[in-house]
Amino acid sequence: MFSYEAPQDLLKDRVILVTGAGDGIGRAAAHAYAAHGATVVLLGRTLEKLEKVYDELEAAGAAQPAIVPLNLETAAEHDYIELANQLDDTFGRLDGLLHNAGILGVRTPLDNYDPIIWNQVMQVNVNAPFMLTQTLMPLLKRSDDASVIFTSSGVGRKGRAHWGAYAISKFATEGMSQVLADELENISAIRVNCINPGATRTAMRAYAYPAEDPERNPTPEQIMPLYLYLMGPDSKAVNGQSLDAQGDGHA
Ligand SMILES: NC(=O)c1ccc[n+]([C@@H]2O[C@H](COP(=O)([O-])OP(=O)(O)OC[C@H]3O[C@@H](n4cnc5c(N)ncnc54)[C@H](OP(=O)(O)O)[C@@H]3O)[C@@H](O)[C@H]2O)c1
Repeated sequence: MFSYEAPQDLLKDRVILVTGAGDGIGRAAAHAYAAHGATVVLLGRTLEKLEKVYDELEAAGAAQPAIVPLNLETAAEHDYIELANQLDDTFGRLDGLLHNAGILGVRTPLDNYDPIIWNQVMQVNVNAPFMLTQTLMPLLKRSDDASVIFTSSGVGRKGRAHWGAYAISKFATEGMSQVLADELENISAIRVNCINPGATRTAMRAYAYPAEDPERNPTPEQIMPLYLYLMGPDSKAVNGQSLDAQGDGHA
């Protein structure tokens, strides 16, 4: 397990947006970032889940979070612009962006793959992070030390039968992360990296592997060290990398 130990004030006064913050890994990241001093912007599609996380963070004494209910499958350009304007009015900048929301689609041969589901997966996993990154870039550029993190998967590095649009969307995610990292290298204070969470005990994992004992995988909370490391100033010099949250690498 990645062994980075984050100082308590790692993210003090930083404003960090997490997509898919209502459940699974995104919920754990929102908690971890808030516990280390960040003001977290909770973006997701299910308002009740976001409100629950909001209440949990408030009860834990975190900086007051913000909630952005947004369905990344159907969001249009004006929704992204409105979000950027709201964040600009409220915070004036953005110090961190965790692209975490994702959907699995179906597991079936490409031969058989439903084009409607293909488009849904590409919309949520690839097009939405592109739109969000592009629209929020002016706010990220106003930060002294901004971090953008994309979420990949093992099947986004080595294709595997029947993983269809999900695997291909994660290859695209790795590509987007690398292209953006290279474009911003040396011309901005923004670093861009990618995390492969590895098998993690969430609803998505249970859906993909219904016969698996969930206990054999770590909880989202247990894989947070890399999420903290890449979001905080200790990773300032790290750009264009794709790292495993459950790897034995070291910071
Ligand atoms: N768990 C694993 O083993 C594993 C392994 C490799 C990679 N990953 C990646 O890690 C990330 C998080 O996965 P997870 O396991 O935590 O999944 P999860 O438990 O299914 O959570 C996914 C989150 O994304 C949100 N989301 C889905 N579609 C959305 C949409 N259209 N608009 C806005 N939000 C949307 C969900 O919102 P709702 O709760 O409202 O549905 C949920 O909060 C994903 O990118 C996934 O591909 C996970």
